[in-house]
Amino acid sequence: MSLIDMVRAEARLAPVSGIEAVANYGRDRAGLIPLWSGEGDMPTPDFISSAAARGLANGETFYTWQAGIPELRQALARYHKRHFGMDFSEDEFIVTIGGMQAITMALQVAVGAGDEALYLAPAWPNFAGAAGVAGVKPVPVLLDMTDNGWSCDVEKVAAAITPRTKAIFVNTPSNPTGWTADRETLQAILELARKNNLWIIADEIYALFHFGGHRAASFMDIMDPEDKILFVNTFSKNWAMTGWRVGWLRSHPSLTRTFENLVQYSTSGVAQFMQRGAIAALDEGDDFIVSQVERAQQARDIVCKVLGDTGKVRFCVPPGAFYLFFSVDGMKDAEAAAFDIVDMAAVGVAPGTAFCAGGEGFLRLCFHRRLDQVEEASHRLAKWINAQ
Ligand SMILES: Cc1ncc(COP(=O)(O)O)c(C=O)c1O
Repeated sequence: MSLIDMVRAEARLAPVSGIEAVANYGRDRAGLIPLWSGEGDMPTPDFISSAAARGLANGETFYTWQAGIPELRQALARYHKRHFGMDFSEDEFIVTIGGMQAITMALQVAVGAGDEALYLAPAWPNFAGAAGVAGVKPVPVLLDMTDNGWSCDVEKVAAAITPRTKAIFVNTPSNPTGWTADRETLQAILELARKNNLWIIADEIYALFHFGGHRAASFMDIMDPEDKILFVNTFSKNWAMTGWRVGWLRSHPSLTRTFENLVQYSTSGVAQFMQRGAIAALDEGDDFIVSQVERAQQARDIVCKVLGDTGKVRFCVPPGAFYLFFSVDGMKDAEAAAFDIVDMAAVGVAPGTAFCAGGEGFLRLCFHRRLDQVEEASHRLAKWINAQ
């Protein structure tokens, strides 16, 4: 028996990212426009980086609060009050290593080995991956692609619930489809969760990346304080901070002590000087977000127009997030297509197969980029599509 055979199966068999496979293949191609990963092209704005640099220069290099420094938790409460229109207490927030640690801790609180957790698919793969590593069975419920956009049939969610189901992960606006739940759908999911005593893990990280002129609907708009909802969030997308690995989790304050312990026994906290940058992002970054969302909307419109004009592409115009999830007439194998697009069009897209059930036959591109590059990439893709 070799060493790898002795690794716990849940860890050994964790799926390899289907995005990385294409990115590794095309990463160094000269002139390639990379639209495969879920991030924009801008570095973190200076007002954020310099706040972190000041913290570092001031010697903030020691162990710090497990839950996050009080000033950052207070800034989170202010930010939520501004955007969600109600009062929040700093005790509701825990600072994490990116959205990903928030998801891992939410899973640790809500589900255990042998349990099932539902999620809406196609989906960003990391929730299902993290659930699997924890011995939890991730169960996809397929969204429907309709003439009015992607849609969630709550009857289908109800049908997927078994006695082992303990949680449902709801990502709205969604990566990769852009599906954005309306208030009624959120209400129906909440009722279902209440009835079946499920936790909701709410991933609303793209709530402000919504193109209707206002943020997307949130469970915060409709919930009672005692509802079993855990909100996972991140600094990554709103403030161009993907590489910082800073996020947060919001829950009822009675859970804070538990989450602090989970931080203690995993990462033992987030670097204090980086938390200074996060405070600047929250307190001074609203205009930056508005400019990013405006640019993303223009980019979305360019890519939808150019690809739509080929007459050979099917997609729903995404009302939120910054991805286009599309299929191409005649395309048989999304993975092979993504590799071919690297070679023939010098554009990096991710195969839909990287996004769980229901992703077969689709490609995903991230349009959160300089508009001239989005335009150029769209025309290159259109040429590739027309040649199929
Ligand atoms: C839907 C969704 N949730 C969470 C995350 C995780 O964010 P982070 O980079 O902060 O771990 C991502 C990142 O792509 C995402 O798309």
